[in-house]
Amino acid sequence: MWRQLPSLVSSSYQASWRSCRRCRSQRRSHCCQDRRLRRPRLLETIHSVETPYGSVTFTVYGTPKPKRPAILTYHDVGLNYKSCFQPLFQFGDMQEIIQNFVRVHVDAPGMEEGAPVFPLGYQYPSLDQLADMIPCVLQYLNFSTVIGVGVGAGAYILSRYALNHPDTVEGLVLINIDPNAKGWMDWAAHKLTGLTSSIPEMILGHLFSQEELSGNSELIQKYRNIITHAPNLDNIELYWNSYNNRRDLNFERGGDITLKCPVMLVVGDQAPHEDAVVECNSKLDPTQTSFLKVSNLLLGKLTEAFKYFLQGMGYMASSCMTRLSRSRTASLTSAASIDGNRSRSRTLSQSSESGTLSSGPPGHTMEVSC
Ligand code: BEZ
Repeated sequence: MWRQLPSLVSSSYQASWRSCRRCRSQRRSHCCQDRRLRRPRLLETIHSVETPYGSVTFTVYGTPKPKRPAILTYHDVGLNYKSCFQPLFQFGDMQEIIQNFVRVHVDAPGMEEGAPVFPLGYQYPSLDQLADMIPCVLQYLNFSTVIGVGVGAGAYILSRYALNHPDTVEGLVLINIDPNAKGWMDWAAHKLTGLTSSIPEMILGHLFSQEELSGNSELIQKYRNIITHAPNLDNIELYWNSYNNRRDLNFERGGDITLKCPVMLVVGDQAPHEDAVVECNSKLDPTQTSFLKVSNLLLGKLTEAFKYFLQGMGYMASSCMTRLSRSRTASLTSAASIDGNRSRSRTLSQSSESGTLSSGPPGHTMEVSC
């Protein structure tokens, strides 16, 4: 999961009795009290719509920008939009990017804060049905196109949506995606694990690597605590079951079943899904797909890669970028024009020694990090 996390814990889990109701600062002097420190308040609206598969809740931040797609996110199992995306979307460098887009954060049914537990026997939607709920969200908001950002199960759902509605998806950022259905070997392993592990432990095994789990850092303890004590744990288990029963997305390079838009595949270098993401990369159109492997999903690296991804789609004019980013972009742009071929497959990988991101084949290395 993410690194450099400002807050992993959704507001309802935070001790708030002594803190400021607006910004939750525990300090006597803080942003809401000092005019000079006051941050502009985010316009945030929560909506629910009825769909053929039940109601779905989503939260909108910002206002629609003319001629720009919305950024639409879908979270992973065991999380909701806030616990999954708040660290990324509230990351400092991310602000200059997202302020140019309206954001729609979908919560899978029963995962939104305060969601009641579904009654016994409730038929939770399959991942394909969850994908089929998205058109209702976009229709309600009157949005025609999106750039999707999904993690794990959410990445699968957005991919399925893009396969079904290619004209409405301008780009996809897919983090830790596993596009394959579970084979019988996976099922056997899953059943065996289920005999000895609780649902929260199995979900933690999906979100984190074994190394991370055995390290039992503060971060892991926080997630373990959140999931184990979630009042909607029964709902979480239903989403988890739908994830494990997913169909194969059946991507085929050069075939009919493929993503038509630019795709940025992202995987943490210790993530349990590394092989699946690598295989996914091999099945997608190399002219449309970038592959980014980031150690521990560092937010700075991810933000930077996202910036270039949007820029590749013509959405981040260099005038929107910081001076530092602009100078880096200049080298990226010139390298791309020397190459004269914008449509090749790109592998972005983080060099552990220099701490840089490089892109493209040897000889076309583009330094994009500090
Ligand atoms: C956003 O600005 O899109 C955002 C803010 C808080 C949590 C998640 C997303």
